[in-house]
Amino acid sequence: MGLPPGPRGPAVLTTLRFARRPVEMLRTWHARYGDLFTVKLTGFGIGVYVADPEAIRELFTGDQSDLRAGEANSFLEPVLGPHSVLVLDGPEHLRQRKLLLPPFQGSRVGAFREVTREVAEREVAGWRAGEELVLRERMRSLTFEVICRAVFGVTRPERVERLRQRLGAVIDSSPIFVLAAARKDLGPLSPGRRFAQRLRAADALLYEEIEERRREPDLEERTDVLSLLLRARDEDRHAMSNAELRDELFTMLGAGHETTATGLAFAFDLLLRNPPVLERLREEIAAGEDDSYLDAVVKETLRLRPVIDAAERTLTVPRTVAGWELPAGVKVYPGIALVHLREELYPQPHEFRPERFIDEGAESYAWLPFGGGIRRCIGAALAQAEMAEVLRIAVPAVQLGLLRERPDPVVLRGVTLAPKHGVRVMVQRATVPARSTVAAAV
Ligand code: HEM
Repeated sequence: MGLPPGPRGPAVLTTLRFARRPVEMLRTWHARYGDLFTVKLTGFGIGVYVADPEAIRELFTGDQSDLRAGEANSFLEPVLGPHSVLVLDGPEHLRQRKLLLPPFQGSRVGAFREVTREVAEREVAGWRAGEELVLRERMRSLTFEVICRAVFGVTRPERVERLRQRLGAVIDSSPIFVLAAARKDLGPLSPGRRFAQRLRAADALLYEEIEERRREPDLEERTDVLSLLLRARDEDRHAMSNAELRDELFTMLGAGHETTATGLAFAFDLLLRNPPVLERLREEIAAGEDDSYLDAVVKETLRLRPVIDAAERTLTVPRTVAGWELPAGVKVYPGIALVHLREELYPQPHEFRPERFIDEGAESYAWLPFGGGIRRCIGAALAQAEMAEVLRIAVPAVQLGLLRERPDPVVLRGVTLAPKHGVRVMVQRATVPARSTVAAAV
């Protein structure tokens, strides 16, 4: 038993370095210590990063009952709730996951695409030449609305706005509220009291939406995720309770809107810094023959700029990983960002070359932006479809100029990797998105 080598020195220093430049630090440690290295991060305990795709394949296939992921997310429970698929482990996790998966599969993605196009058309139609935009902010607004409409099934603008205000107030609260001490109610003006009030207001609205949906006469025909979940039954023919539905709605919003928005901001940044790729994408969208290049742009963006640097599993029993016998209690981080930069898998790994996903494809366990195994992202197909549809609408309609000469440093924003300044651009030319192009292209 033993732990692979890794950066020494006080955990707090390692944590600060990682928080400032996460990807650079991971690359430095990978180069120095090899495919497995141990990192001690304040508040997270001992973790072993794994950059070897074969070892990751072993972790993500076969029996994974000795690996826990929900436990590590328990800090999210005060907001997401105890039934959230993200915070559960074992049989309870599998039950929620089985109920949640069908609405995100196969044919359902077509409806998501339609909703995304409508929302993106409205967003882009509001951009004016000469205007400055922070793309991550614009994309956050857009992806929030897509979740409201496609997942919650809420379409009336005033109701979307109400959700935006009340749920946004909770989601945008300071991350300090993960600490129980910060949530303490110390009187009417205390931050803890205000946070509890915001949470109650958001919950009241969600329960109202759930109850109203239950009473909708067309519930059986509706295709939004909430309606499908209201109709879903587990193996014992039990329906989901209102509390379970509330927790999963919050989870899908929490897990699904900021991640996709950040992925989109990165996509625009990479396209604007690589004019030949942008030009080819424009031509492919205009030709409207197939989506292979558009899909490859999305895949290459998520390879070069993964939004999550690593998955996370806690060992409940000792496990051998790439020859190291790791003790129980250790966290193992399948290193998404590191695998994506392996030279032998992706030649010239720092170049943005979508063709690599057309000409060569990608080996399994070499492309991991959505994690893997029994915890793989439930919204993976939706997120990729959403990113593709936003680009399909925006790229032909607008010309954007970057306001910063150098790419934004990639920093940690909560648990995600994000562009430090949000990708700031100037709208140079804007036209109303052409409906006919969209229709022809699909
Ligand atoms: C570009 C956008 C997205 C990225 C990069 C992303 C990435 C991830 C990653 C890395 C995980 C952890 C996987 C693991 O531990 O193996 C995850 C889990 C999850 N994601 Fe996403 N995600 C995105 C969008 C979405 C969307 C749109 C939704 C839903 C609407 C969603 C819902 C979830 C849920 C519910 C889980 C927990 C699954 C479980 O624990 O069983 N995600 N996501």
